[in-house]
Amino acid sequence: MPVPLLDLKRQYRPIREQVREAIDRVCDAQYFILGPEVEAFERESAAALGVAHAVGVSSGTDALLAALMALGVGPGDEVVVPTFTFFATAGVVERLGAKPVFVDITARDYCIDPEALAAAISPRTKAVIPVHLFGQAADMASIARAAGTVPIIEDCAQSWGADFEGRTTGGIGVLGAFSFFPSKNLGGFGDGGLVTTSSDELIRVLKELRVHGQSGPYEHPRVGGNFRLHALQAAVLRIKLPHTAGWIEGRRRNAARYRTLFAEAGLAGVVELPEALPGRGHTFNQFVIRAPRRDELKAHLLAKGIGCSVYYPLPLHLQPCFRHLGHREGECPVAERASHDVLALPVFPELTDAELSEVVGVIADFYKAQ
Ligand SMILES: Cc1ncc(COP(=O)(O)O)c(C=O)c1O
Repeated sequence: MPVPLLDLKRQYRPIREQVREAIDRVCDAQYFILGPEVEAFERESAAALGVAHAVGVSSGTDALLAALMALGVGPGDEVVVPTFTFFATAGVVERLGAKPVFVDITARDYCIDPEALAAAISPRTKAVIPVHLFGQAADMASIARAAGTVPIIEDCAQSWGADFEGRTTGGIGVLGAFSFFPSKNLGGFGDGGLVTTSSDELIRVLKELRVHGQSGPYEHPRVGGNFRLHALQAAVLRIKLPHTAGWIEGRRRNAARYRTLFAEAGLAGVVELPEALPGRGHTFNQFVIRAPRRDELKAHLLAKGIGCSVYYPLPLHLQPCFRHLGHREGECPVAERASHDVLALPVFPELTDAELSEVVGVIADFYKAQ
């Protein structure tokens, strides 16, 4: 039985009518650029997250970029980032002419290693960007201690709905950056993002940055960009928002079911399952195992029609575009090891029990055949 890594059609079916009505509402109003849908979504998402302010932007990448711009990051500055993350976390730093300072992760949560982070802080450090990877909150208490007075931008692209010891991700650092890429816990019908903050001053600056740094008609105290969230996206996201908690519960249920199925199949000591650490509110945006002979297992799963993917096959400090920073293999051993071992399995909320059993059965067959 084939099992997709993600099937968004199953999520869409039960909300189809509501979504189409919302899209019609925007079409009838012909109000596409910012306006009432975007403002309503900003209010509703801020309330859902329990943060003071939220500003809708064009993508998770632009959320990170605008957050760095709001802090005034530019040439000569350093920004500390984990090396094991999606490219955007570091790409935005480089784009602003600042230097991404790559730091290793911890093996337990795949998030930035707080001790390595502390060692990477220099007088030039203008911000740190911990990533709540795979849907689990990073150790924000240790990260905050390590960062000291350096502002923290949380990369929450994968962590909508996760919390650290009761505090929502995106509400802990100075700024939070979310993505509504369709595969995320809250996904749009295309690109979209959100920046969160409790600072009245930063939200004012972010709203200016989103429209070319404009403070009033044709008045530009700073250079910004076109970072606007589309009204159609906002309307769709408003329909999806109230369902998000239930979808996350579905992901957690599937992760728990995997745990049982892997144990029953005698695979507990063969593959390593993701840890849901206490106080970290894991939302399982991805369910990432560590597997011996990962590439062969991946090929076997794909041949059997089981969707799976490697996040991330090459840590960012080793990416060709960062060669000028002079990094070498071996500098971030935990991340480098993870990039060889990790494999993401289907975990989306609508998966059936039979599908979860199929995934584990095909993995069991692979290791038994050896
Ligand atoms: C950790 C992380 N940061 C940033 C982004 C960028 O988000 P977007 O694709 O919406 O630009 C993503 C999304 O893929 C992500 O996973």
